[in-house]
Amino acid sequence: SHPRIVIVGIYVADLLFKASRMPVIGETLLGSHFAMGPGGKGSNQAVAAARAGAEVIFYTRLGNDAFAANAQKTWQQAGVTSRATLHDDLTTGAAHIFVEDESGRNAIIVYPGAAAHMVPADLDLIEQDIASADIFVTQLEQPLDVALHGLRLARKHGVTTIFNPAPATQLPDELFPLCDWITPNETEASLLTGLPVGNLEQARAAAGRLLAKGVTNVVITLGEQGCLLHTASDSIHIPAYQAGKCIDTAGAGDGFTAGLATALAEGQPPEAALRFASALAGISVTRSGTAASMPERGQIDTLLSTSA
Ligand code: RIB
Ligand code: NA
Repeated sequence: SHPRIVIVGIYVADLLFKASRMPVIGETLLGSHFAMGPGGKGSNQAVAAARAGAEVIFYTRLGNDAFAANAQKTWQQAGVTSRATLHDDLTTGAAHIFVEDESGRNAIIVYPGAAAHMVPADLDLIEQDIASADIFVTQLEQPLDVALHGLRLARKHGVTTIFNPAPATQLPDELFPLCDWITPNETEASLLTGLPVGNLEQARAAAGRLLAKGVTNVVITLGEQGCLLHTASDSIHIPAYQAGKCIDTAGAGDGFTAGLATALAEGQPPEAALRFASALAGISVTRSGTAASMPERGQIDTLLSTSA
């Protein structure tokens, strides 16, 4: 049977603009590309994990509007089972994603809309889904107390947890011991530890801090420098996979977390799971969009076998 993953997070409509550089305050800049597509870190992770071969259940709150209809179409096409609730009095959120032409680097403003109104008790409705999952995943675009409650429910049922602490914010001490895995990028790891995280050595030091706070497996993603796995007994660096020219890094972190969740749910050992996650993310940066850039399983397996 397929590995089962429950993901709690948000869906928004991504409005993606490309231009030669970032605009500055007061400036109007002509762009080179625009597209609207499905986004939101949790939903991107759900789509990526489903395409990678997992059976995925996703929970969020949506408005009852055109963006919500796009969300449901996206999940249906990807094979994600939705437990989303629709709210007539709320509107589905949106993100403004800015991508720089040459580097593919991005900056994002996300407005969660309906998903900002999620409350911990929402998750009691999906407790049975969580209990029967192999892996539970959440992030920080919905309120923090919702993430915390989800991690607690997963822990209560002995389900492995992956926490993607994005976007970056300060976290309560009680959260860290609930994380079997944590997957911050450089910025997030730096904010969580108060340490600079620009290279592998610095990432090791920051990872040590997160271990000391009670996380079991710390994974810091380092963009083109790959990722670091740090545990009480191991420190392993996995280089990034080059699947082609990097044109759009938006969503790469989501692809990474989804790949890790899928491989761990399949029972792959940690190092293989991280290679799988890196390969998934490595393909996603060669394509435009966030959820839209997530590869199918066959493409991940091909990249892994050709670069072995
Ligand atoms: O991680 C990328 C995502 O962050 C985008 O899809 C955007 O919606 C923001 O939530
Ligand atoms: Na992308």
